[in-house]
Amino acid sequence: MSAARGRVAGKVAFVTGAARGQGRSHAVRLAEEGAAVIAVDLCAPVEGIAYPPATAGDLEETRRLVEAAGGDVYTGIADVRDGDGLGAVLEAGVAKLGGLDIVVANAGIVHLPAPAVETDPERWRAMIDTNLTGAWNTCRVAVPHIVAGGRGGSIVVISSAGALKGYPGVAGYIAAKHGLVGLTRALAVELGPERIRVNHVAPTQVSTEMIHNEAIYKLFVPETEEPTREEFATASEAMHLLPTPWVEPADVSAAVLFLASEEARFITASTLPVDAGVNQH
Ligand SMILES: NC(=O)c1ccc[n+]([C@@H]2O[C@H](COP(=O)([O-])OP(=O)(O)OC[C@H]3O[C@@H](n4cnc5c(N)ncnc54)[C@H](O)[C@@H]3O)[C@@H](O)[C@H]2O)c1
Repeated sequence: MSAARGRVAGKVAFVTGAARGQGRSHAVRLAEEGAAVIAVDLCAPVEGIAYPPATAGDLEETRRLVEAAGGDVYTGIADVRDGDGLGAVLEAGVAKLGGLDIVVANAGIVHLPAPAVETDPERWRAMIDTNLTGAWNTCRVAVPHIVAGGRGGSIVVISSAGALKGYPGVAGYIAAKHGLVGLTRALAVELGPERIRVNHVAPTQVSTEMIHNEAIYKLFVPETEEPTREEFATASEAMHLLPTPWVEPADVSAAVLFLASEEARFITASTLPVDAGVNQH
């Protein structure tokens, strides 16, 4: 499809956590449908996570893929926990690409699992700081740019199936993701008059680095010493109504694209699950 006929043609999108995984997929999908993309990521190690961090090379690969999809792109390294730094990178991206219409607050981490009351306070704080305050920072630096454009816009927050139900071993993650439901609703109420829609997408397990590691496998298959990918898949699939152990980043990107596009022009303050029925809505 040519950019001129894309579902978000002529829009500028700001995607956090864009170096790999779902964030990269959202950036590329939006570009395929005509958006220019401001792609940011931390690209650095995070203390206490059980999987390899994204790198500057990963973000460069996202740049390459967005360009290959026909999109203009601005990439920057920024930490969603640092609102000022994030705002400066966004400002440079907006100056280069000429405005802002779409925000995908996607950056997130999951820490090494522990029971709620035994969670290390530093790790608890890290979950809240990145997954909840990071999304708030993303929105608060972005909204003035959308308002300045005077065209309205769409904010898509990536929450989780764990924003709507509890799972064991990741209380800080669950609390932060539940918080995103409140953030989505509060922003939607305030920003409606500006024609800025705010919704959240709640995926079940998505096939990325975040879940394909020993710590998460063990969380799903606690009775086994060293669960395999196949054992994890069986346990994960048993949670779903549809016969799949997980969804792909592209499945989440389809929901993001819909909410970002004018097709969803009267949808705000809503939850869009991409969860194979793990939560029966
Ligand atoms: N994978 C899943 O099963 C799953 C399920 C539901 C929701 N989610 C959510 O989807 C989002 C994307 O996760 P993913 O599965 O693509 O994992 P991922 O680890 O592949 O990608 C997350 C990205 O966020 C970046 N990031 C982390 N901390 C950051 C910070 N402080 N500032 C800027 N960037 C930062 C990482 O560098 C990484 O590139 C997260 O919010 C996650 O919580 C994931």
